[in-house]
Amino acid sequence: MIEELKKIAGEAAAERVKDGMLVGLGTGSTVKYTILKLGQMVSEGMDIVAVPTSRDTERLARDCGIKLTTLEEVDMLDLTIDGADEVDSNLNLIKGGGGALLREKMVAYYSRYEIIVVDERKISHTLGSFALPVEIVKFGARRTMRRLSEFGCSPALRGGEKPFITDNGNYIVDCKFESITEPEKLSTTLNNVPGVVENGLFIGLAKEVYVGTKNGVKILKSRE
Ligand code: A5P
Repeated sequence: MIEELKKIAGEAAAERVKDGMLVGLGTGSTVKYTILKLGQMVSEGMDIVAVPTSRDTERLARDCGIKLTTLEEVDMLDLTIDGADEVDSNLNLIKGGGGALLREKMVAYYSRYEIIVVDERKISHTLGSFALPVEIVKFGARRTMRRLSEFGCSPALRGGEKPFITDNGNYIVDCKFESITEPEKLSTTLNNVPGVVENGLFIGLAKEVYVGTKNGVKILKSRE
């Protein structure tokens, strides 16, 4: 059932991609359906060029016959479609459950428009149900984690004894907060810690969220 909700959201968002667009492709099990749908649209004649946000997405998009480029080669992307782990009522997000948050945030930053695809379980009033992923460098990782705990969270190194390594060669620390009431402030605080590369709070980046619900796809729009 959840899979079906991911599929209807992912596929509906693909309809927003038009011929000639430069498109950012997110990472995860929901946007996978967007990418598969785009592959079908490309096979039917649509011409797009895409920037993937992870090696996994790069492989999938290539297998689907989607033309790829890199962030270096583009100025601004027309549209990026990506997943999220949690979405609040202001369309602020927690991302990074798949470990791709750094590339995802860079691609979102260089996109004119960002659409998020989720199933209805991801919607919450205030962020914090999902542990916030933070990408950190390996050097001094345990020390960085102790510092992060001073901001009111319990940090856990993803993968534990066999740490998960991101596409950028870094670690991910999952930081469980009780609730994140001031996401913008927290994001700045975390990114000011030396050793932190980026955190999974996406503030003001999502313009629309396609939510797969039991009653079909619901579209949430940013108030901006
Ligand atoms: C990848 O690092 C994440 O930001 C994903 O976009 C997010 O975890 C959503 O993934 P799913 O659609 O698989 O839940």
